[in-house]
Amino acid sequence: MASKRSVSMRDVAALAGVSIGTVSNVLNNPDVVSPATCEKVTAAIEKLGWVRNESARQLRAGRSNAVGIIVMDVQNPFFTDLIRGAEKYCYDHGLSVYIGNSDQIPEREASLLDRFESSRVRGVVLAPIAPQTDAAERLRRLGIPVVLVDRANNAGFCTVGMDDIEGGRVAVKHLLDLGHRRIAYVGGPSTLSQVANRRRGAEIALDSVPDAEPLLTVSTPTLDIASGVTAAQELAALPDVERPTAVFGANDMVAIGMLQGFFSCGLRVPEDVNIIGYDDIEFAAAAAVPLSSIRQPRHGIGRTGAQLLVEEIDAADGKCEHTHQTVLLSPELVSRRSTSAVA
Ligand code: RIB
Repeated sequence: MASKRSVSMRDVAALAGVSIGTVSNVLNNPDVVSPATCEKVTAAIEKLGWVRNESARQLRAGRSNAVGIIVMDVQNPFFTDLIRGAEKYCYDHGLSVYIGNSDQIPEREASLLDRFESSRVRGVVLAPIAPQTDAAERLRRLGIPVVLVDRANNAGFCTVGMDDIEGGRVAVKHLLDLGHRRIAYVGGPSTLSQVANRRRGAEIALDSVPDAEPLLTVSTPTLDIASGVTAAQELAALPDVERPTAVFGANDMVAIGMLQGFFSCGLRVPEDVNIIGYDDIEFAAAAAVPLSSIRQPRHGIGRTGAQLLVEEIDAADGKCEHTHQTVLLSPELVSRRSTSAVA
C-alpha cells in the first residue's frame, strides 16, 4: 500500500500561492502579513490538514520550549507530588515537560541529562542522587540552567530542599519526648545526603539525652517499602532486651515497609514498637496505623524549583536579573498513632 507522503510546509505554500517564508510568517509573525494572505495560508493549512512539527521547528530555532525534570524514584509519592508542583508551574508558563527517572543510578541520571541536552531543553529541575553534580555542572557550562531540588544547598545552583539535619533531630526528639531511649534509624544508602543528614540530626537529638542508648543504625540498599519490611524483620529478630522500642525511617516508604514487617513478625505498632517516617506522603495518614512523620511541602518544593528555573531561563534571555537562591525549608512534625508514650 503506497504510503501517503506527509504534507509539508512547501505544499501549503504552493496551494496558497505564496512563499515558504510567508507561511512561516503567518505562523510565527502574523503582524507582518496582510489579513488576506493570512486567510489564504490558513485555508490551505486546513484543506491539506498540515500539522506543524513543533519539535523540529524548535530544534531548528536552536532550542525547545520544554524543560526536563529528573527524580530518583517515580514510585515514591514524594517525587510524584514534587513533579506535579513543577509541571503545573511550567505548564502555566507555556513550557512542556520531559520527565526522567534516574532510579537512584548515577549513570542513568547522567545519561538523562545528556539526552535532555540533545533535546535542547531550556533547563532542568533535578533531584540529584550524589553530592557531586558533575553532569549538571556540564549542562550549566553549555548554557542550560539546572535547579537542584530535594537538596539543602549546592554552590553554583539554585537549590530547594529541607533542612534534613533539623528534620532528623525533630523526628528523634519526638521519640525521646515520648520516653523512648533505645531508638533505631533505618534507611540508606548513606551516600544519599538526605539519608546521612537525617541520621546526623537523630544523633544530635540523642546527644542531648544522657540516658539514651547509642543510635542503632540499619542501612538499606534503597528507600522503598521492601527495604523497610526487611529491616523490620531484622529488628524483630533481636532479643527483647536489645530490640529498639522506636524506629525512625529515613522516609515514609521505608516506614510503611517497617509497619508491614513488624506486623508480619507479630509485633504491634505502637504498643511494641513506635515508628516515625519522613515526607508525610498521602499514604502516611492512610496507613493501617496512621504514621507519624516529618512533613515536606512536596508540591511546593517542585513549584519553587520550577519558578527558579523559569527565572533563570528568562535571565538567560536577558529579560531579568537572576542570582542563585538557596531555599531551605524547616521541618514540621506530624504526630499520629504510630508513636506513643512508653508504657
Ligand atoms: O530521595 C529519597 C528521599 O529523600 C525521599 O523520600 C524524600 O524524603 C527525599 O527528601
